Amino acid sequence: MSSSHSTLASKPLYPPTVTAPPQPLPLWRFLPTFVRNPLRALPRQVYEDDMLVAARAGATIAWVMAPALVEQVLVSQADATTKSPVEKRVFNASLADSILIADGAQWRWQRRALAPLFRAVDLQTHVPAMATAAEAQVARWRSAASPAPRAVDEDMTRATYEVILATMLVGGRPAEAETILKAGNDYLARISWEMAFALLRLPPWLPHPATGQMRRAARQLREAVSAIIARRRTEGGDGRDLLGRLLAARHPDTGEPMPDNLIVSNLLTLLEAGHETTAKALTWTLYLLARAPDWQDRVFDEVRGVAGDAPITADMLARLPVTQRVVKEAMRLYPPAPVMARQAAEPITLGAHRLPAGSQIIIPIYAIHRHRKLWADPDRFDPDRFLPAAEVARLRTHYMPFGGGSRVCIGAAFALLEATTLLATFVRAARFGWDGRHLPEPISRITLRAKGGMPLHVIMR
Ligand code: HEM
Repeated sequence: MSSSHSTLASKPLYPPTVTAPPQPLPLWRFLPTFVRNPLRALPRQVYEDDMLVAARAGATIAWVMAPALVEQVLVSQADATTKSPVEKRVFNASLADSILIADGAQWRWQRRALAPLFRAVDLQTHVPAMATAAEAQVARWRSAASPAPRAVDEDMTRATYEVILATMLVGGRPAEAETILKAGNDYLARISWEMAFALLRLPPWLPHPATGQMRRAARQLREAVSAIIARRRTEGGDGRDLLGRLLAARHPDTGEPMPDNLIVSNLLTLLEAGHETTAKALTWTLYLLARAPDWQDRVFDEVRGVAGDAPITADMLARLPVTQRVVKEAMRLYPPAPVMARQAAEPITLGAHRLPAGSQIIIPIYAIHRHRKLWADPDRFDPDRFLPAAEVARLRTHYMPFGGGSRVCIGAAFALLEATTLLATFVRAARFGWDGRHLPEPISRITLRAKGGMPLHVIMR
């Protein structure tokens, strides 16, 4: 494995993993730890073992790490599992019944209805909108040029949200867009309470400190999206954007349109899943590049060589392999969606373990990506892990920022096009610098946030 290009090779620059308890936590310690940061409740064995089984709140919980076992959960035995009731509960108020959390036939028809939106040839047509949003962010940096560090995490949320609005919701009103952005953030920021209560099987009617704020945020989200849908119905609009296509979607068997509540849930799912994850991917990528200036130089040289000063176009992206490798390695160390969960719908055998129906199955992507036995020097930033020969030698469930199996992220190709276009545009325009102090702890709030935000120096070139 090459380390010649990484300044991170020799220095222990950031906490290797989030502090991990040696054993699964007892209930009384689990709740406060989980609410603070769910990653801190992952026991140390998940970074070292193939699989770990324990009991919690009267149920079996299994963490599955070995790629071959993950493959069984997501592919060969996928029909024996459902999405986790915990996920359904935490999203019930905002994304009820959407493609993200539905199961069985209800999921399948939504996936079939939405798949055409993400066809590779169509995605290429979004690259100009992505480049425009990236240049707009560069202009904001230029006009606010200051030696003080900037909250780059907020900048990335703004830039990726502009992309999703331009590609998925043509003609939306700025006030509605702001409401959705803010309420979506409020909802996710408080989600660990609901999640911890669900994991402990406390009844849904039992309030927790964030109940009121989450309900308010969910109501604002659904009202804003419903208003957009109602206006589109009366005024018409771009039939080719996401909303136009959702309204035109028909059930393949019955020919019925998608009911309104499902249109709201799916539009919200795509708006939220479609920008928040990519924003986090870019935030952590810029952090790693700020700490590995030699890799930042390599990305700069590559982009200048391929694009000069011109906007990034779809045909250039394949000629930016270093930029792409950097994004992939950043999503290994900081997977934007750090944990996936399923429930065993029937008894299921994984390795030497027989899990009863109802078991919770956790796939801790964050830990798999830093697993002591799966990666050499796992905490080190080294984009050359994604040289083509190394990539093909791995099982697909060894590196899985987008999940796997039939429920693999529907927006994966969109996200990769977007992350590459934005990163290339940003690094060509500015140099990102670390303040030498802030060691952001990755915190799981469905997406992987940086504790204390991500202040970086943005020095225009
Ligand atoms: C870097 C960016 C992204 C990451 C890391 C990511 C990650 C993931 C992961 C891990 C899953 C699987 C969840 C599971 O099986 O439990 C998933 C599913 C999903 N993602 Fe993404 N995602 C990203 C971007 C996007 C984008 C851009 C969109 C849409 C515009 C999107 C929409 C969805 C949807 C709808 C699902 C549910 C698919 C299904 O269950 O059939 N994601 N994503």
